[in-house]
Amino acid sequence: MDEPRLKLAVQKSGRLTDPSLDLLARCGLKLSRGKDQLFAYGENMPLDVLFVRDDDIPDLVREDVCDLGLVGLNVLEEKRLALGSHNHGDTLEPLRGLEFGRCRLVLAVPEGAPYEGVVSLEGRRIATTYPFLLDQYLRERRVTAEVVTLSGSVEIAPRLGRADLICDLVATGSTLQANHLTEVETVLESHAVFIRTPVPLSKQKADWVERLLQRIDGVQQVRESKYIMLHAPRTALPEIRRLLPGSEAPTIIPLEGCADRVAVHAVCRENVFWETLESLKKVGASALLVLPVEKMLA
Ligand code: PRP
Ligand code: ZN
Repeated sequence: MDEPRLKLAVQKSGRLTDPSLDLLARCGLKLSRGKDQLFAYGENMPLDVLFVRDDDIPDLVREDVCDLGLVGLNVLEEKRLALGSHNHGDTLEPLRGLEFGRCRLVLAVPEGAPYEGVVSLEGRRIATTYPFLLDQYLRERRVTAEVVTLSGSVEIAPRLGRADLICDLVATGSTLQANHLTEVETVLESHAVFIRTPVPLSKQKADWVERLLQRIDGVQQVRESKYIMLHAPRTALPEIRRLLPGSEAPTIIPLEGCADRVAVHAVCRENVFWETLESLKKVGASALLVLPVEKMLA
């Protein structure tokens, strides 16, 4: 019998598309993309990718049309609030937070408009495509404002006289700048998340999800990780351990013909800067070598 294949929903075109495909490639997935561009077949894993609108990803996964999804926390949280707990919005638990797709949902006012904190929002009209997150934000602050729900182009709403200010996503800030809007409050800090269907998976599928999660963890860990090698006097070892950023127990190797010097090999979970190398040299280290780490499996 054919192995059951996992379906993973990814944003069709947008800020998450390239980093999502990059993550999957780093996890070892080779995709062949068909002519229609909406489906890609996993050549070396029982996993296929569906390219869809990001706003549709939470529903596709919640309704078990797709087993997995890569989506922004902003889209996920809005969907959860929209569904409410009685409609199983709470079943959309993220499996992993990811390091890409960083952006913020913010309140922004027209340049030069007076703003003195959330009290200035009272009675105002706020345009957004995130009415549930905005509503929750306002309720938590006991502010009464009119939420104007739009389906897009929120940034031009103030100029069109449809709203006094906006609540929209900001990544680079260029959209706000181009529309003469100034960010005044953060409603949500967002990044990409990995989600799965609430329906139990078959053993084979679950095993693959587990493998994929381990690989994702490995990919995220190695991004900044370095492998460092050096020679040092035995007596300097405590000091050297202290200097190595984010490393676990280093490997100590004796050096042939030198009783008092050893080789030290360690994985550092953070970047190793020149300053660190200089400090290591000061306590007696020599032959320092820093290498990038490509893969890691704990
Ligand atoms: C958001 C937002 C802005 C833009 C901001 O849209 O609505 O248009 O990104 O990015 P910037 O700060 O880098 O200029 P998004 O790409 O999420 O579009 P979508 O809502 O259609 O998915
Ligand atoms: Zn979208």
